[in-house]
Amino acid sequence: MSALPDRNLAMELVRVTEAAALAAARWVGRGDKKAADRAAVDAMRSMLARIEMDGLVVIGEGEKDDAPMLFNGERIGNGKPPLVDVAVDPLEGTTLCASGAPNAIAVIAIAERGAMFDPGPCFYMEKLVTDNEAAMAIDIERPIEDNVRAVAAAKGKPINETTVLMLDRPRHEEAKRRVREIGGRIRLIGDGDVAGAMTAATEGSAIDMLYGIGGTPEGVLAAAAIRCIGGEIHARLMPQSEEEKLAVLDYGMDLKRILTRRDLVAGQDVFFAATGVTDGDTLQGVRYSRRGATTESIVTRARSGTVRTIHGQHNREKLEAYLNSTGMSLSEGSPIPAGMLE
Ligand code: FBP
Repeated sequence: MSALPDRNLAMELVRVTEAAALAAARWVGRGDKKAADRAAVDAMRSMLARIEMDGLVVIGEGEKDDAPMLFNGERIGNGKPPLVDVAVDPLEGTTLCASGAPNAIAVIAIAERGAMFDPGPCFYMEKLVTDNEAAMAIDIERPIEDNVRAVAAAKGKPINETTVLMLDRPRHEEAKRRVREIGGRIRLIGDGDVAGAMTAATEGSAIDMLYGIGGTPEGVLAAAAIRCIGGEIHARLMPQSEEEKLAVLDYGMDLKRILTRRDLVAGQDVFFAATGVTDGDTLQGVRYSRRGATTESIVTRARSGTVRTIHGQHNREKLEAYLNSTGMSLSEGSPIPAGMLE
């Protein structure tokens, strides 16, 4: 990424996640997760086209046939250097958004070309995430209860004050039982383990670690966030059906390999941005006023480790006038799409 060495791409990416969050937020609580996702994808893609980069989508909406936009392998940006890998989830937590539940976010990460782990046909991975303080203490090959003990010791707190975040899924029953047996606490979430990983990686947050089997693409996005904000992730590919397992082995992937943050996202130039759609542990969701809307985003890069929280105030009238003057139609990518406030 030598073209513009000191360019902080994340500062530009926040406009992309803001646009996606604003578009998805129109659908909060309305029970239609597909419409929410579609709105976020449209808005994100329209803003991405304006960014100076030659981006290759490594983590996107899926294979081309199923995903008409932001599909894996798609080229995005204006085609000029730098050459980068791109991971997107325009709406992470589609069900959370549709049901008005906390922690739905719009998220994007960028790294040097070739730096991102390609999940291939592997949908699921086992993940263990914690913050800087306990980063050296975790080992995904050890039983979950050993990890809880090690994290508690590294943080200097009793086990009964140590909280593990898990997706609420039947596949986690055994792990839940083991954590509770040694006195640990569990917080269950319906969806959204990227936001969960960000909270677990944040020192001083209410969550000490995240554990469980979730999406592989979400694991790569979480690793990008962790490369920037600190903390560690250990992950292992964990196909959940015989069909997925065969496809993964066929693709040449190693089910025993332990993937750390640097295996999932390598290189020095890693940029990450996320905007809240619904209120969450790390980010406030989109709020509406008579004149427009507000957003809250996190913007960060691995090289400097600077974490910025950006509060956006979006004035609908001015945005409309500005976008019209640039010839950009509102339906094409207004951060506050027409009709939102009606
Ligand atoms: P979507 O945004 O695609 O709905 O994914 C939400 C999510 O909860 C992720 O955060 C998580 O990694 C994955 O789904 C878990 O998959 P599953 O719901 O199949 O257990």
